[in-house]
Amino acid sequence: MTTELPVPSEESARSLLPPGSRIFVAGHRGLVGSAVARRLADDGHEVLTRGRDRLDLRDAARTETFLREARPDAVVLAAAKVGGIMANSTYPVQFLEDNLRIQLSVIAAAHAAGTRRLLFLGSSCIYPRLAAQPIREESLLTGELEPTNEAYALAKIAGIVQIQSYRRQYGRSYISAMPTNLYGPGDNFDLETSHVLPALIRRFHEAQRDAVPEVTLWGSGSPRREFLHVDDLAAACVRLLEVYDGDEPINIGCGEDLTIRELAETVAEVTGYRGRVGWDASKPDGTPRKLLDVTRLTSLGFAPRIPLREGIARTYAWWLGQLPPSV
Ligand SMILES: NC(=O)c1ccc[n+]([C@@H]2O[C@H](COP(=O)([O-])OP(=O)(O)OC[C@H]3O[C@@H](n4cnc5c(N)ncnc54)[C@H](OP(=O)(O)O)[C@@H]3O)[C@@H](O)[C@H]2O)c1
Repeated sequence: MTTELPVPSEESARSLLPPGSRIFVAGHRGLVGSAVARRLADDGHEVLTRGRDRLDLRDAARTETFLREARPDAVVLAAAKVGGIMANSTYPVQFLEDNLRIQLSVIAAAHAAGTRRLLFLGSSCIYPRLAAQPIREESLLTGELEPTNEAYALAKIAGIVQIQSYRRQYGRSYISAMPTNLYGPGDNFDLETSHVLPALIRRFHEAQRDAVPEVTLWGSGSPRREFLHVDDLAAACVRLLEVYDGDEPINIGCGEDLTIRELAETVAEVTGYRGRVGWDASKPDGTPRKLLDVTRLTSLGFAPRIPLREGIARTYAWWLGQLPPSV
């Protein structure tokens, strides 16, 4: 069975997201939100933002007031409580409740304010732990979730169902997309809460700087993962807003994966680290493999442009530029 979608026309793109649209990017200071905001502005749209200091998106009443007054044509929901394995397993309550609250509040407020388009961003961790690879959108809810991020995944699954419900009950043109692991400028390099790629960049950078002979990494190094540069993700999000108006979530990835060991070798090379790399197999690996099937996305006219090694080098250069001179 094929999951390809009919190729959309440029005319439909103009009707779903007219040129010069007003778009509220929720979470514009984050990795994803900042990239989406840059891309929308580059494409000539008007980007609306509101920092968490002025609007906590868990507050449904204030979020609705804001959207009723701002009257955007579209909303990109890139605000969320996000983190790696350690943060997810330490704070499951916040990962469940903050995400449910943000989604309930923003999606309902967009509907109440008459917002025509909304893109909800989930994550590839919504799929069953042992889903057939590459993971197709149809595998949602067909098996058990990865226990280390179950609370987060269930909140995101509720968001997908919320989007589908607004479509069915109120005819809203709201859509969901499920990105793979992302990286790029704006990433979180705090070792307590970061994802694997920025954590590796930081570990190898510091080891190279301090001439540490060995770096020991969590897990066996054998899980396979896929990584997409956030500028490619932003281009995919804009493409979906322009051409996609369907019930099913759309996977966003590059269609290729590698082992964490291969990833570590690439990061070591980019950062110039020449020491040994050890693996602590007593620490959890997480899902053995996670590669998204991107047939639907590809059929909608999207292809990633930034190769992994180049993307890592660009991200490393960006992070170095953020560091105080002595670090
Ligand atoms: N990063 C990835 O690898 C990845 C992969 C797949 C999917 N995604 C999805 O992409 C979305 C964004 O992720 P990200 O990596 O960009 O996360 P991020 O860098 O942590 O950014 C999250 C943003 O949400 C904002 N936020 C959080 N709670 C808020 C609240 N209560 N009120 C207002 N704003 C709030 C944060 O504001 P502050 O700046 O004030 O903290 C931040 O700007 C998430 O839905 C995530 O599931 C990310």
